[in-house]
Amino acid sequence: MIILGIETSCDETGAAIIEGSNNEIKLLSNVISSSLEIHAKTGGIIPEYAAREQIKFILPVIQEALKKAFGTPDKHLPGGRMPARRIGGDSWEVELNKIDAIAITYGPGLIGSLLVGVETAKTLSFVLEKPIVPVNHMVGHIYANFLCHPEQSEGSSLDSSATPQNDIRFPAIALVVSGGHTDLLLMKNHGNLRLLGGTRDDAAGEAFDKIARLLGLSYPGGPAIEQAAKAGNPKRFRFPRPLIGSGDFDFSFSGLKTAVLRKTLTMKQLSNETISDLAFATQDAIVDVLVKKTLKAAEKYNAKSILISGGVAANQLLRDKLSVMSYQLSVKFFSPEKKLCTDNAAMIASAAFFNYKPVIWEKITANPELYF
Ligand code: KG4
Ligand code: ZN
Repeated sequence: MIILGIETSCDETGAAIIEGSNNEIKLLSNVISSSLEIHAKTGGIIPEYAAREQIKFILPVIQEALKKAFGTPDKHLPGGRMPARRIGGDSWEVELNKIDAIAITYGPGLIGSLLVGVETAKTLSFVLEKPIVPVNHMVGHIYANFLCHPEQSEGSSLDSSATPQNDIRFPAIALVVSGGHTDLLLMKNHGNLRLLGGTRDDAAGEAFDKIARLLGLSYPGGPAIEQAAKAGNPKRFRFPRPLIGSGDFDFSFSGLKTAVLRKTLTMKQLSNETISDLAFATQDAIVDVLVKKTLKAAEKYNAKSILISGGVAANQLLRDKLSVMSYQLSVKFFSPEKKLCTDNAAMIASAAFFNYKPVIWEKITANPELYF
């Protein structure tokens, strides 16, 4: 089955084409256009700007995904008929017709951005008479783990992400750590997800972003803090680990931001050395809480696999620590290729393949508040 995935929940415009059979997915193309540069200038996402960029890029990105998956467009339809429908200059009617279904993110996210993808996908479903599968963006993140990536080479030797992804066994514990969410889920099977806990205030990615801003680092904050932390002194600062011993699977990161703020207020000026030391302590605290709670959930529910996903899952310290510690627990650890941790359409197509429930296009509406 060939699925066209479309993702436009925030500042990334994504289109991907996958071919799935049995338990395996072949990624035929995965195209992303990001408006990150615009948001880096303002230190955060301005929803109106993000939506306008989505409109600019949605059709070219779909076109590029088709081109990468199937090559340049056929000029003639069978029987010598000239194609009627066009995206951009060339006709992509033949290539679009190779698709068996369309997968679309319908929430959560920014309403303006979501609408661009949802309405485009619905139009394609209507015009091409193809089934359409609505996908929860957060569930999509989890399904980045089910995309095989044999070309994987980045990351440390501790990173187990070279493990074939179709080795994933249930029950699994899924940690979704993004800019807007920090959620722990029990996954008993495809389509059987139970939320164990989530953040009570700031998400882990949000904490990285806000603390980076405090330290004068660039947006997005996660990669900037990870980079700065490399030169950090591990012994100079130690920040609290919020809710680490709470006995549940909830998280809280807003206190960490306050702790970093307090520390910076005691200093006249932040030298590069101090910024690195603060970045180290911030990353250490966030990763420590995420790792401990994930492992506790894996133990409690006798998990066979641990899956991480979302932008923060690109963090190497988090990947390394979970990799080592899940090995000690005899639980298999899976992490998507780093570029598949942040928003992309391949994960949306992957989720649709493993949870194939098409609906009539008229029934799909964007839902910015969608949760598990
Ligand atoms: O999943 P994502 O691309 O978008 C949302 O759905 O939110 O996640 C973006 C978040 C940002 O907060 C960013 O700072 C964080 O992921 N992030 C990281 C890293 N790369 C991205 N956090 C820590 N370490 C990283 N390497
Ligand atoms: Zn996301």
